[in-house]
Amino acid sequence: MVRQTTISPDDFIYPMFVTHGKGIRKEISSMPGCYQESIDELIKNAKEVYSLGIPSVILFGIPEHKDEMGSSAYDDNGIVQNAIKAIKDSIPELYVITDVCMCEYTSHGHCGFIDKGEVDNDKTLSLLAMEAVSHAKAGADMVAPSDMMDGRVGAIRAAMDREGFSNVPIMSYAAKYASAFYGPFREAAESTPQFGDRRSYQMDPANRREALKEVALDIEEGADIVMVKPALSYLDVISDIKSSFAVPVAAYNVSGEYSLIKAAGKLGWIDEDRIMMEILISIKRAGADLILTYFAKDAAKILND
Ligand code: PBG
Repeated sequence: MVRQTTISPDDFIYPMFVTHGKGIRKEISSMPGCYQESIDELIKNAKEVYSLGIPSVILFGIPEHKDEMGSSAYDDNGIVQNAIKAIKDSIPELYVITDVCMCEYTSHGHCGFIDKGEVDNDKTLSLLAMEAVSHAKAGADMVAPSDMMDGRVGAIRAAMDREGFSNVPIMSYAAKYASAFYGPFREAAESTPQFGDRRSYQMDPANRREALKEVALDIEEGADIVMVKPALSYLDVISDIKSSFAVPVAAYNVSGEYSLIKAAGKLGWIDEDRIMMEILISIKRAGADLILTYFAKDAAKILND
């Protein structure tokens, strides 16, 4: 009766990795229980996700072909575009969000266009806008830019409005830190930068105030939901944003946060299920309205029991 915070499967967004081929379901070694899946397998998994009461998935693509311009990202026949169509054909009620970024599609693994050895912020914006429009055309319900280029929310909003997708909302990765917690994801999405790191466009973990500035800019440009990423080391940031802005806040419980728990659980050093639930409720308590988490299915099974 007096419990302040509750959690339920409909708080979750489940991340999925889609790859080419047929009948492929390859477990990601550093993320037990998570897979790179071809579209046919992804559909089976997505049906299970939906039947557990999880309303939404976010898609990451592993393209067949990578190049300097990340051209597979905005190919209307690309891997994510085809996955969206397939999900919408078989599970139309499942809310499909797409990650909008270049790093999975560029040969160099950076989140933007490279000019003279550096990511060129402004030249990247039109590529991201094309990618978002292409996802919307395929039927995406919402797009989620994760690249951290300045001005990309505005560029994506303008392009989607122009192309007739003014009803497709944007969830921006607004406060995204340059974090070592993304390590296992980069294996999963095959998106490790081939040189340098992402510190010229992602935030310094030491900075708390800067998150408010990033969020304010994204909201001004048209973000409908703002995200904090990672979640656990940044609960203060979630809380700050929640109390400063009147938009829904999402938190990304990232790959490294998942792998730590899975590894210690496997060794028998911790009670994996209890720690998982404690972590998820803490993220919610800090102020997140939505949680992107690889634990979504495991947690939903416990909550549904
Ligand atoms: C792509 C992107 C990343 C994640 C989500 N989108 C990786 C990165 O910025 O290097 C990380 C998610 C996770 O670790 O679970 N830009």
